[in-house]
Amino acid sequence: LYGRGQPVSMQNLRELRKFCNEYKLKIIYDATRSSENAYFIREREKGYENTPIVEILNEMMSYSDGCIYSSKKDCLVNIGGFLATHDKDIFEATRSMVVVYEGLHTYGGMAGRDMEAVARGLREGAQYEYLKYRVNQVRYLGDLLMEASVPIVKPTGGHAVFLNALEFLPHLSRDQWPAQTLSAAIYEDSAVRSMERGAISKGRDSETGENIFPKLELVRLTIPRRVYTNTHMEYTANSIVNLYEKRESIPGLKMVYEPKYLRFFQARFEQLSL
Ligand SMILES: Cc1ncc(COP(=O)(O)O)c(C=O)c1O
Repeated sequence: LYGRGQPVSMQNLRELRKFCNEYKLKIIYDATRSSENAYFIREREKGYENTPIVEILNEMMSYSDGCIYSSKKDCLVNIGGFLATHDKDIFEATRSMVVVYEGLHTYGGMAGRDMEAVARGLREGAQYEYLKYRVNQVRYLGDLLMEASVPIVKPTGGHAVFLNALEFLPHLSRDQWPAQTLSAAIYEDSAVRSMERGAISKGRDSETGENIFPKLELVRLTIPRRVYTNTHMEYTANSIVNLYEKRESIPGLKMVYEPKYLRFFQARFEQLSL
């Protein structure tokens, strides 16, 4: 569900279920941002205008055999995650694995207090008023950037605004890592942390060892829930708009340290001259 904060429609989930039934395939969602997704279904999909979010979520989940869930997002908690399923075979098989990896299923790897917080957060994060505030704060940042013609992925997603680095920094070649460059420039200018989602994240072809340059080279500005005010959105937008106005003066980067795994977390870079 939910690539780049763009929702999947109920229609799509229904069709996927039908397709998988035909081929006897199971469906396990990554339901991490399913409440924000449900909000978009209510906002955009005909017939759901007045449906409570929890009902939308129940219908979404009814088309799956289960889900994995990182609770740090729509559950509004600091830590935790879970796998849920209504398939008895998956349940039995995975319950045994919990003992090996986490502890007995009755206590798992998480403290009881943290599990209680997840249970409450799941309900609270599915409240319509909360989701309206959440999605609209992200949209506000997207609107401020669009007003200044900064290239972003449209429409604005539910948890993040994605900047299009190839359009933002067209003077850089792909091997000068435009998205990484833009992310570093934003941090230098404003101390706002973002995330490269482009060639650095994509890594190398496992057979040829060559860098893979995907079609999109993006910078993700993910907004933590219930942390920032709209003034923070304005501060962030101001910095990015200022950078956009002087974009031709931003030099590219050279990768000077590349770890074997997860280079998007650990690599190091040096600034090139213009
Ligand atoms: C949709 C989705 N699934 C999974 C994860 C990973 O979560 P965790 O860090 O809890 O493994 C993320 C994190 O950004 C996410 O957005």
